[in-house]
Amino acid sequence: MAATDANVPPAISKSYKLNTGAEIPAFGFGCWQSEKGLVGEAVKIAVKNGCRHIDSASIYMNEKEVGQALHELFEEGVVDRESIWVTTKLWNTAHEPSRVEEAVRTQLKELKLSYADLILIHWPIAFKWPESGKHEEVGDFLPFGPEGGCEPIDVPLVETWKAMEALVDKGLVKNIGVSNYNAEQLKETFAAARIKPAVLQIEVQPALPNTELRALAKELGIVVEAYSPLGVGMKGIWSGVIHMPEFIAIAEKAKLTPAQLALTWNFQLGNVVLSKSTTPERIVQNVATPLGGLSDEIMSDIEAFGKKHAVRVGNPPIFKTKAGVLFFPPEANLPVDAPKEE
Ligand code: A2P
Repeated sequence: MAATDANVPPAISKSYKLNTGAEIPAFGFGCWQSEKGLVGEAVKIAVKNGCRHIDSASIYMNEKEVGQALHELFEEGVVDRESIWVTTKLWNTAHEPSRVEEAVRTQLKELKLSYADLILIHWPIAFKWPESGKHEEVGDFLPFGPEGGCEPIDVPLVETWKAMEALVDKGLVKNIGVSNYNAEQLKETFAAARIKPAVLQIEVQPALPNTELRALAKELGIVVEAYSPLGVGMKGIWSGVIHMPEFIAIAEKAKLTPAQLALTWNFQLGNVVLSKSTTPERIVQNVATPLGGLSDEIMSDIEAFGKKHAVRVGNPPIFKTKAGVLFFPPEANLPVDAPKEE
């Protein structure tokens, strides 16, 4: 099987040039839903096994521990600051231009860093700044309205983007980008930007290849980062794409584990891929993923699988849009009766 071909380099050896000239490592280690007490060790295992890219965010509520792990890796001489890429994200409560710098400075302090390599606007939706003035409790991040969902406030995306550009000017971040934007939002920001978005982070997994949005990003010279590459998403909701019998059958045909197949497929599409786990053996396995090498037959099997089982695993039901509907169009949403995690 070509994917196990020694000629195919590991994804950790690859980087992509951004429109800023910076080189972003193709393999990123994600920290979403990684529990406190486990996330720091997970980061260390990933880095000690060759990963040079950490993907963090303030809503993950674990940046302090991620920062401590990075600090220890620097102290131990495993890696230095310049040779590791750290991404973080601006949360929805900090979209008002006057809040952006304050929020980012707090995050950098937690991460024990003087600058981030990349900061993304996490979601194209704004919430009010927490009354506590802090981001510590879930309610600080998710201000629930009387009807249960988080009410959006009016902050034009372009205004937040300008405040992001100011972060680059101040040296707090080297590259800026967006996450969870649709085509319209991406085009609008791109057209208005003095500093163009360098990265678009979206869900890309075998059952949601996001082909059109990836093509638009490519046309605009924006690198795509894939989150939830195993098609799992929110923990405890369902077992994930890698546990679906038809996907397992393709993996058996490819002589790979389902997780290896899902990650390799994503790298083969040319994306930066954000892999997350707090299980040491899985971290080691995932970090060794080859950059590609899947046959045309396996690639088209996955394409057919994706068309048949289209499913989006990341569509926060608590983000109320103005119309009170789900954030993304519901066509490919995870069914509520999806098989639960065993
Ligand atoms: P764990 O952290 O318990 O290892 P996704 O990025 O698609 O949302 O998937 C992330 C989930 O997949 C995590 O819950 C993680 O669980 C699990 N996972 C990560 N790597 C593997 C792997 N190699 N095999 C099976 N499950 C994995």
